[in-house]
Amino acid sequence: MGWNTSGSTGWDTSGGTGWDTSTRTTWHTRAHDGSFFGYVSAQGAPIVDLLDPRPGERVLDLGCGTGVLTAEIAARGAHVLGIDGSHTMIEAAIAQHPGLDFTVGDAHDFTVAQPYDAVFSNAALHWMSRDPDAVISCVRLALRPGGRFVAELGGAGNCATLTSAMLTAWREHGLYEPELPWYFPSPAEYAMRLEKGGFAVKVVECFDCPTPLDGCPNGAADWVRMFAGSLLEKVPAATVEPLLRRVNELAAPALRHESGWLADYVRLRFAAVRH
Ligand SMILES: C[S@@+](CC[C@H](N)C(=O)[O-])C[C@H]1O[C@@H](n2cnc3c(N)ncnc32)[C@H](O)[C@@H]1O
Repeated sequence: MGWNTSGSTGWDTSGGTGWDTSTRTTWHTRAHDGSFFGYVSAQGAPIVDLLDPRPGERVLDLGCGTGVLTAEIAARGAHVLGIDGSHTMIEAAIAQHPGLDFTVGDAHDFTVAQPYDAVFSNAALHWMSRDPDAVISCVRLALRPGGRFVAELGGAGNCATLTSAMLTAWREHGLYEPELPWYFPSPAEYAMRLEKGGFAVKVVECFDCPTPLDGCPNGAADWVRMFAGSLLEKVPAATVEPLLRRVNELAAPALRHESGWLADYVRLRFAAVRH
C-alpha cells in the first residue's frame, strides 16, 4: 500500500508527551530479547511493510516492548518514538537501541506535543483491554488528519485452544475462573470501533497464524508462564506446577506436533486513516 506522507512535521525529541505511567501488566523483557519468544517481533516484519515508513516521517510505536520493530522503522528513515506501559521494557529498549527515543506511557491515556504521521502497533493492542475505544481515541488525537494507524493484534479466536486448556485446568483445580487479560476482537468489531473513532478503514484482515513456540521446552506451560504470569500469581504456590502440567495435557493433542509446539494464533491486521 502506498501512503501519502505529505504534511510530515519535524521531529520533536522534547519528550513533550503527557503519559500516565500506570499499567496493569507485568512484562518480562526476556520474552522479547530474541532468545525466548522472540517470534513476537520476528512476526512483525509484514506489518512494518504495511506501515511502509518513509524517510523523515514521524511515527509512534505503541506498545513497543524492547523496541525491535521501533528500530526497524527507524532503519527505514522514519523518526520514531517507542511507547510502552512497562518501565522494564522501556529500560531494555533504551539499553538495546541507544540512538532511539522511548518513553513510558499508558496507551489508554496519552497526549503528544506534535501530531504524528503514523501510529504503529504490533502484538500490543490486545493487551490494552481496559477500554479499546479510549486507546483508539488517543491514537486519533496523536495523528495529523490523514495520518495512518497500522497495527496487528490477536483477533477473535486467538489462542482458543490454549485459553480453553487454561480455563479447564483452573476449574479442575477448584480455582476461580481467571479473567483473561486480553481483548481479541473480530475484524468487523474492530473496524466498527475504528470507524466510530474517526478513522477510514483501508485494510482489515484476520488470518490463522500457527506459531512455533520456539524455546519453549514445556510448551503451553511456558506460554502461560510468560503471557499469563499475572494469573499464576493468584494461584497457591503448590498448585502452580500441577496446574501447568494439566494445561499441557489438555493442549497437547491439538498443539503438540512432531516438530514441536505450535500456538494457535489468529492475527488481526489493519490499516486505517484519520479523517
Ligand atoms: C507482546 S509485547 C509486543 C512488543 C512489541 N510491539 C513487539 O512487537 O515486539 C506487548 C507490549 O504491550 C505493552 N503494553 C501492554 N499494555 C499496555 C498499555 N496499556 N499501554 C502501553 N503499553 C502496553 C506491554 O508492556 C508489552 O511491551
